[in-house]
Amino acid sequence: MTDCEIAALVARILKEATLEEKVAMMSGHGFLSQIQESGGRMGAHPYRAGGGCERLGIPAFYFTDGPRGVVRGSGACFPCTMARGATFDRDLERRVGEVMGIEARAGGCNLSGAVCVNLLRHPAWGRAQETYGEDPYHLGEMGAALAVGIQTHNVVATAKHFALNSIENARFKVDVRVDPRTLREVYLPHFKRILDAGCASVMSAYNKVNGEYCGHNRGLLTDILRGEWGFEGFVHSDWLLGVYHPYAAAAGLDVENPEPINFGQRLVDAVRSGAIEPQVIDTACGRILTTLYRFAAAEDPLDAYTPEMVACDAHRAIALEAALKSAVLLKNDRVLPLDRNAIRRIAVAGRLASLRNTGDRGSSQVFPPYVITAIDGLKEYLGVEKVVLAGDENDPALAATAASEADAAIVVVGYTAADEGEYIPGDMSGGDAQSGQRPRRAIGGDRDDLGLPAEEIALIRAVASSNSRTVVVVVSGSAVSMTEWIDAAPAVLQTFYSGMEGGRALAKLLFGDESPSGKLPFTVPVSPADLPPFDKNADTIEYGPYQGYTLMEKTGRTPGFAFGFGLSYSSFRYRALRVRRTQNGIEAQVSITNVGNVEADEIAQLYVGFPGHAVDRPKKLLRGFERVRLKPGETRTIRFSVTLDALRYYDPVTREWRLEPGTHVISAGGSSREEDLIRREVVL
Ligand code: BGC
Repeated sequence: MTDCEIAALVARILKEATLEEKVAMMSGHGFLSQIQESGGRMGAHPYRAGGGCERLGIPAFYFTDGPRGVVRGSGACFPCTMARGATFDRDLERRVGEVMGIEARAGGCNLSGAVCVNLLRHPAWGRAQETYGEDPYHLGEMGAALAVGIQTHNVVATAKHFALNSIENARFKVDVRVDPRTLREVYLPHFKRILDAGCASVMSAYNKVNGEYCGHNRGLLTDILRGEWGFEGFVHSDWLLGVYHPYAAAAGLDVENPEPINFGQRLVDAVRSGAIEPQVIDTACGRILTTLYRFAAAEDPLDAYTPEMVACDAHRAIALEAALKSAVLLKNDRVLPLDRNAIRRIAVAGRLASLRNTGDRGSSQVFPPYVITAIDGLKEYLGVEKVVLAGDENDPALAATAASEADAAIVVVGYTAADEGEYIPGDMSGGDAQSGQRPRRAIGGDRDDLGLPAEEIALIRAVASSNSRTVVVVVSGSAVSMTEWIDAAPAVLQTFYSGMEGGRALAKLLFGDESPSGKLPFTVPVSPADLPPFDKNADTIEYGPYQGYTLMEKTGRTPGFAFGFGLSYSSFRYRALRVRRTQNGIEAQVSITNVGNVEADEIAQLYVGFPGHAVDRPKKLLRGFERVRLKPGETRTIRFSVTLDALRYYDPVTREWRLEPGTHVISAGGSSREEDLIRREVVL
C-alpha cells in the first residue's frame, strides 16, 4: 500500500466506524486479566495497546517491553541500556535493535517499549539503568540507532518516557518545573533526534511537567511534539496511572494504556456531551491507524519470524559483543590484563559473583534462557579447578585468606534489583483473595546511597590487602561513588548489569582477549554535593540547565571520573585536529594513533565550547563521537560534521533557535577531561 492508499483507507474507516469503535481503538485491552492469569509475569502475553476493530477487520498494536531485551517470552538479555550507552557504538545499538525487532515479532508483538531515553540527571535515579546516560546528544544518537534497528522489522518503536521522568519513587506525583530553554536544550533534544530518525511512537511519562501530568500535557504533546517538531506518529500513555481524565485526548494523547479507564465510556460520554470535539477522536484514530497500516504494509526483511530465532546463537553473539564493548576500565595499576599462563588459581569474592544479576525486576526484566555469572565465565575460561570461591561480605577475613593463596583476586560488588530499579507499587499486580494469591510487595526504587554498602567496602579492603593483583568489578546502573575505597583497589572495572553473556565477557576482558573500551556515559561525582538536588519523595522539583559534566564544569569541580573517561590496555594519541567552517556548520577531522601494544577500540569524542559568548552556555557540549578499532601503530583519521542547528540556543523570548556568532572552540580527544583534549578555534 502506498501512503495515498493508506490515507484513503484510514479516511474510509473513520467514516464507517462508530464513535464507540473509534474510542475502543484509543486504548489497550486485556492487560489486567492477562497479568493476573500469568501471576504477575510481564511479557507472558502480547499486550493489546491501541487500534484493533474486529467488525471492520482492523489489526491492533501488541506491546512488549523493554530496554534490555524483549520481555515477551524468553528473549536475549543484553547488557542494560546504560552499559550500551558506554559502548558509544551506534552500529552495535542498531543491531541490538534489530534483534529486539525480530524477537518482538516472533512473540506476536508490533510495538516495542525499548527506547528509554530520559536524561540521567542524578545517579540515584532507580531506573538509570534503562537509559543511556547524562548527555542529550549521546542519548539521541544511541536511541535513534535502537529505534531504527527495531523498526527495520516493522515493529513500531516507542520513545519513552515523555518527558522529564527521572525520579522513580515519586514518578506518579512529582511536578517537574523547568524553564522553556532548559526543556528544549537539555531534556527534549534527544526525543526530537529519535523521532526525526523515524521512531513512530511516544509514551507519555507518569510525572507532571510544569503543573500538568504528561499524559494531559498539551504543551508537550501538542505544542512541542506536533507543533514545533511536526511529529506524525501516535502517543500512548504509560501503564495504568498515566491518564486521569478523558481530556487527555484533547491534549494530544492518542492511546490510554493498558486499559480503557478514562478513554472508554468516559471518553464516549465526553464527546456525546460536547465536552470533547468529535474531531479529537478522528485525529487520534487517524494517527494510530496511519502508523499501524504503514508498518503493516511495509515489506519484511525476513521471510518469517519464528520462535527458534529467540535468543538464537546470532543474538547471543550480539549480547556478548555488547558486554565486551561496554565495560569501563576506571583504574589499572599494572594489574590487568591478567596472564592466563601465570594464573594457577584465581580467588573470586563477593555475593554478586555468582548471582544472575541482569538488572531490576520491573517492566524491563527479561527472562533469558541462561545467564553467565562472573563465576561461570571464569570457570569456563580457566577451567573449574583454577577458580576458588573465596567467600563474600559475610566474612571478609576468610575471603582475604583465600585471596592470599591465589595468583589474582576478583571482587564483585555493587547493586541488585533490591537496591535500584523501577518502583512497582505493591498493589499493581492485583492479588486474589479467593485463590489466596497475595498481592505483590513493592519493589525497586531510587537509590538511597551513591556509594557501596559498608560490608562490600570491607570486603574490597580485606581482599586487596592480601592480594596485590585484586580487581574490583562494579555492577550498577549508573555512577557509584568510589572515593572511600578506590585507593585500596589496584584495578577497577565497571561492568554495569552485563546481560546473559556478562560473565563470559568479563573473563575475556580480564585476560586480555579483548581490551576494555567502554567510556563513562555519565560523570562520577566525588561527593553528592557535586550533583543537582535530588529528592526521591519530591512533590515538586526544579530541573535547571546544568547537570553531569556541564554542571561540574560550570562550578569548576573535579569529578571522581569524568564523562567519556575509560582506560584501555592500549593507549591513543590524538593530533592534527583540523576544523573548517562550511555553509551548514563545522567539519572537523582528527588523527588517532594506537601508540600501545595491543589492538583495541577507542572512542573519539568531539566537544564544542562557546568562550566569551553573551548568552550563558555550558563550557562545552558533546557534538560527535566515533568508535574506531586500531592495531598497534595504526593511525586513522576520523571526520565529524556538526550542523549549525546543533550549535544554536533557544531564545525563550522570540521562541527561536539562534546562533550566537563568534568564536567556537572545537576539542577532540578520548574523554571530556581538559587534559585529554586537543583544540582549535573557529569563528562562526
Ligand atoms: C513503565 C514503562 C513500561 C510500562 C509497561 C510502566 O510501569 O514505566 O516503562 O513500558 O510499565 O510495562
